[in-house]
Amino acid sequence: MASNVYDDPIVKKVFEIYGSVIEEYKPIRNPDLMIDYLREKFKLLVKPRIVYITLAAFYNNRPVLFEGPPGTGKTEIGEAILTLWAGKSAFVLPCSENYDEYRVIGDFHPIIAMSKGFNEESFIPRPLLAALIMDTGVLIDEIRRSSEEFQNMLLDIIDKRRIIVPELKKVYRQRGTGFQIILTSNPEDIAQNELSDAFLRRVVRIKFSYPSLEEEIEILKLRLEDDINYIPLNLVKKMIEAVNSLRKTTMYKPGPSDTVSWATLAVKIAKAKNAKRVGVKELIESGEAVLIKNLEDEDIVRETLYRVFKE
Ligand SMILES: Nc1ncnc2c1ncn2[C@@H]1O[C@H](COP(=O)(O)OP(=O)(O)O)[C@@H](O)[C@H]1O
Ligand SMILES: [Mg+2]
Repeated sequence: MASNVYDDPIVKKVFEIYGSVIEEYKPIRNPDLMIDYLREKFKLLVKPRIVYITLAAFYNNRPVLFEGPPGTGKTEIGEAILTLWAGKSAFVLPCSENYDEYRVIGDFHPIIAMSKGFNEESFIPRPLLAALIMDTGVLIDEIRRSSEEFQNMLLDIIDKRRIIVPELKKVYRQRGTGFQIILTSNPEDIAQNELSDAFLRRVVRIKFSYPSLEEEIEILKLRLEDDINYIPLNLVKKMIEAVNSLRKTTMYKPGPSDTVSWATLAVKIAKAKNAKRVGVKELIESGEAVLIKNLEDEDIVRETLYRVFKE
């Protein structure tokens, strides 16, 4: 019963622990305005479709699943949308096989529990409970890395919008509309668990894919700002041609995140050499450094870079 009042000791603890890391802003819930904010404040180029569907899901209190290849902005875009929606920083939970309710809801301080018992005094609230209590968003990153048990526990919370802490005989309920959930996943990663049908039925799925040539140029401009002028446009286009070719041929598929790292490094090298412009030599040097992530891909990356830049 006492779950929604501020004098609850767990609620107090949550604000004491997490209050200083959660910043507050003005919530933005208009999709077109949100797209502008994502671009101007977060330097993220986000397809209107992604924002429209996500906000529609949030208005219906439904969780959203961002699916797509690595480096396409799922994590950063998810965190930014949740933050704008709630007007407060979102919590990010990076999943792993051994994630469980103790890591995300709360656990007991072993020494305090020994002397005082398993009660409110020894309970340490964790991010998912904190997000529910503070009414802010949660990004559950790489959900397929977590166990089926963890996913089932999440489903229950997502469906009922409440968290039960049996040891405390307490139930905490959603307080407002800020508590929304975005999950991310890379369905092409065969090393990971499948998501259950029950899970997929409850979430609104949004597919992420690699950007078009024009979009990837836009992303580079947003991220490098004035530094992008160090790289002649024809070479920028060749960089994107190279990464697009590698996306089809290598084990490690470079995402836009890698294109950004590549361009950033190339500009740094050119600046260090006091050059006015980035040339082919710097692009090949930095390309090899950024794009070769394993032995199998080494030859393909080299051949691709030489082919694209020598033309
Ligand atoms: N649409 C985009 N707008 C701006 N930057 C992007 C975009 N997509 C990818 N990036 C680049 O990739 C990084 C974010 O990738 P990330 O969110 O980790 O991808 P994912 O979670 O899909 O693996 C950004 O820091 C930026 O360099
Ligand atoms: Mg990610």
